Amino acid sequence: MSGWTRAAGATVAVGAGVLVWSLVEARSFVVRQVSAPVLEPGAKPLRILHLSDLHLTPQRRETVAWVRSLAQFRPDLVVDTGDNMAHADAAPVVLEALEPLLGTPGVFVHGSNDYYGPRPKNPLRYLAAPTRVRRDAEELDHEALTAGLTSRGWLDLNNARGALDVAGRRVSFVGLDDPHLGRDALPLDPGSGVEEGELRIGVVHAPYLRALEALRGDGAQVILAGHTHGGQVCVPGYGALVTNCDLDTSRAKGLHGWPGARPDAPGGEDSVWLNVSAGVGTNPYTPVRLACRPEATLLTLMPREG
Ligand SMILES: [Fe+2]
Repeated sequence: MSGWTRAAGATVAVGAGVLVWSLVEARSFVVRQVSAPVLEPGAKPLRILHLSDLHLTPQRRETVAWVRSLAQFRPDLVVDTGDNMAHADAAPVVLEALEPLLGTPGVFVHGSNDYYGPRPKNPLRYLAAPTRVRRDAEELDHEALTAGLTSRGWLDLNNARGALDVAGRRVSFVGLDDPHLGRDALPLDPGSGVEEGELRIGVVHAPYLRALEALRGDGAQVILAGHTHGGQVCVPGYGALVTNCDLDTSRAKGLHGWPGARPDAPGGEDSVWLNVSAGVGTNPYTPVRLACRPEATLLTLMPREG
């Protein structure tokens, strides 16, 4: 066997190993637990379960079971940042997955995959530039999903605002429909300024910079988003190569300050908190993840030091 043949064989073996691992990793769910000092001194902590990018199909029973299991964390609030569906019959599957959480106060926005079904993609194009949504793709029943969630008291924040009683305090929300589809428009109804001691949370699927700036300008102190899949196929020891939007790759997932340093760090006075979820699922045609496990976030908002 020549050196070239051995090298080619080794390359194929490594490639096959990485592919097998990335298929396994895409089902290796994890709960990322983080905290941020947002609340007024002395306030009771508030636990938020942040879910995103479930990309459910009727076949993804393992994902349904895992999402259902998250009720064991007994969050005070659930925030779902969209891309819940990946199949024409997904709406009841999403509602089944979320059922144990629907008795908890919750809010949601949609992502592009709640409007249009998945299509096969060349994954190399994903690495080259933000994906484009084919408007001729199969339309999904986002209205059934919306009706199922709002009937249980969850707030529809697609270009809307609202408020909920959460763990004994009033929390206000402002949300945007998906900027990846150009559907984002800050709700016109007022704009009451953020009152002393009020907590305002901004919610959007894709963390495009214009969306983050709109939510920050509206007074959100914490912004939750998804869409990036954390880069989905990352370089071990380096991180994400893409965010599938104009957010920088250093914020592809996790808890950060935006637009600058974290608000509790030097230089972060003008920043807000931004949590970007790496998401639970993937497009069914690219069911792989590398160095980027599927996740839910348990974000605890803590009191600031007095
Ligand atoms: Fe997604």
